[in-house]
Amino acid sequence: MSNAVSYELVDNIGVISVNNPPVNALAQVVREGILNAVTAAQDDDCEAIVLRCEGRTFIAGADITKFGKPPMEPGLPLVLGAIENSSKPVIAAIHGTALGGGFEVSLACHYRCAIASAKVGLPEVKLGLLPGAGGTQRVPRIAGVKAALDMITSGNPIAAAKAHDMGLVDMIIEGEDLQAGAIEYAKSLVASGAPLKRIRDITIDPATVEAGYFDAARKKLARRARGQIAQDKIVSCIEAAVNLPMDKGLERERELFLELVTSPESAAMRHIFFAERQAAKIKGLSKDTPVRAINKVAIIGGGTMGGGIAMCFANVDIPVLMLEINDEALQRGMDIIRKNYNITVQKGKLDANKMQDRIDLITGTTDYADLGEVDLVIEAVFENLELKKEIFAKLDAVCKPGAILASNTSYQDIDAIAEATSRPQDVLGMHFFSPANVMKLLEVVRGEKTADDVLATSMKIGKKIGKVCALSRVCYGFIGNRMLGGYGREAQMLLMDGCTPVQVDSVLEGFGMAMGPLAMGDLAGLDVGYKARQARTDLPDDPKLYRMGTLLVEMGRHGQKTGSGFYKYDPDTRKRMSDPEVEAMIKEEAAKIGVEQRDISSDEILERCFYPLINEAARILEEGIAQRPSDIDVVYVYGYAFPAAKGGPMHYADHVGLKNIYDKICEFRDRYGEQYWKPAPLLKRLAEEGKTFAQWGAEQG
Ligand code: CAA
Repeated sequence: MSNAVSYELVDNIGVISVNNPPVNALAQVVREGILNAVTAAQDDDCEAIVLRCEGRTFIAGADITKFGKPPMEPGLPLVLGAIENSSKPVIAAIHGTALGGGFEVSLACHYRCAIASAKVGLPEVKLGLLPGAGGTQRVPRIAGVKAALDMITSGNPIAAAKAHDMGLVDMIIEGEDLQAGAIEYAKSLVASGAPLKRIRDITIDPATVEAGYFDAARKKLARRARGQIAQDKIVSCIEAAVNLPMDKGLERERELFLELVTSPESAAMRHIFFAERQAAKIKGLSKDTPVRAINKVAIIGGGTMGGGIAMCFANVDIPVLMLEINDEALQRGMDIIRKNYNITVQKGKLDANKMQDRIDLITGTTDYADLGEVDLVIEAVFENLELKKEIFAKLDAVCKPGAILASNTSYQDIDAIAEATSRPQDVLGMHFFSPANVMKLLEVVRGEKTADDVLATSMKIGKKIGKVCALSRVCYGFIGNRMLGGYGREAQMLLMDGCTPVQVDSVLEGFGMAMGPLAMGDLAGLDVGYKARQARTDLPDDPKLYRMGTLLVEMGRHGQKTGSGFYKYDPDTRKRMSDPEVEAMIKEEAAKIGVEQRDISSDEILERCFYPLINEAARILEEGIAQRPSDIDVVYVYGYAFPAAKGGPMHYADHVGLKNIYDKICEFRDRYGEQYWKPAPLLKRLAEEGKTFAQWGAEQG
């Protein structure tokens, strides 16, 4: 037996312990170890078998790094078969997170016990997969079809108490000594002559599932699939659990699992899984970089952004002091926070008492002197460099030594802000995305002088508040917003060239973007871009450039907030509707400036919107603004709702082929001008060398 799995007899109970750090993934040695231990236990003196894990968690699933590689024996189904067919009861003892193949191992056991803090789940869908070891067949047999469908298509973990209510866990072990509790539980099962409960023996009566249930589920899931193909196949598996015997259902599940595991969608989502974890690592900083304690946070500015950020900290029990210019502004901020929490309560995602606890953690002040004891300050006032510098000078005067001073700016120069203080080493950017309490991305912006421990602390606290962090150096717009420039520009250029707003947005939404660029402009407010353009002196003098965006703002059509922009919006439901007036205006304006409109293909829409974004990303990489290509993917998937099933813009670019992208950019340069289409040197080089961004990233280390 390998070191990854050990076996011992404790009071006539055979205890199998898995020890494969960090998360006890089901590597070959683990599968083999469990199989050997269960087989050996059939012939020894044990009366029951407990399967438990060392370290921070029960088995957290298959070893994701091995997907796409040749399978190694024994396969998981063989191991599960040995457990399920054991002549002695096998009891899974769960702590941490029993996920994916790990939870499926426990479902093959005859009983499951868990400590109260444990969670169970089948998150495969988040990797573009479905549970491939009986999860889709066993969960509906014990928890029912609807619960199984919700659990497996969402991929969200379930807390032990709820899992117990659903029948997924048989016993909650009180206290922290899971092994002792599990052994006692095993003994009690033996003493009572408890049967070998095999989930496979349960049958589901098809008559209990209403006609059309699965088709309706498929339709509902398709509406939010955004390029993902796993959900539909999960429905098919659960349908098989209802209509087919267990063995046939398992065959169906395996067949569909194998289709998914080789799909580009799953490869993209697995890429994002590892990219997300990689992004949190800062090159050149060791794992042991000390971190500062963050026990109290202050937010400067109680607007939508500041309020959202305050909620992130209150949600993890960190007290927040919110500073505003007067009591009225503070009250407005608190009202927004309460309103947001109320929505969560109404959706059933938060208990009303818990909501009050969280609100109680957020207190207000109008006096900088109250900020003396906070460990982290995040400034979230409007985008004005002089104002931000003033605020940081005040913070410098009142905050204790070692307090981290962060700005949530989207564009401003962090180094200039840091210079307004006597402690630039404590200053950095923490760029949240709106709505801050919902969006997962946090761009951590490293100033010229930001100290290592400040960066390490920000990454750690970012993870604690549930964010996915990516590091950016200082530049205008940092990683995400800097890349967005050409994307928005081309969306508007396409209108002049012959597209309607619906055409542009539906191509991007068909690709999987949560919202097309023009609808996104309407949501953010067209006046925002308008004002930013007015402040710029570097834009080409071209009547075609942002023509529609500019005219619409001048007509008072600022987007959703004024009821119209590129689209018109239903005043009650905010439903977006195409506007014939805008479509006619586009034609007139194109004629006025002598642009001959034409039919534009969906491919061209995609290329013209995405290729400038990819081109800018290549510059960002070459300048060292982003650490690695996969960090850019993380930024776009978590901050800009780029479809995970496409793996982010860099992964997508590699998939399309950098040579194809480079050639197209050159073609557009010749057609539309170098001021808009200038290939980035890195893109050119990689295209010529036949390399991918991923290869380049790996070479950089
Ligand atoms: N396989 C391989 N490596 C894994 C892994 C897995 N299943 N799960 C986590 N890891 C690695 C991570 O990449 C990370 O590595 P680095 O330290 O080198 O970056 C390390 O383990 C720790 O992971 P986290 O940073 O995520 O640690 P955490 O404590 O924040 O979270 C966790 C722990 C909740 C288990 C989280 O890692 C997680 O959700 N893992 C994935 C679980 C999953 O998706 N399981 C299903 C796999 S598919 C499957 O099982 C198919 C099937 O049906 C057979």
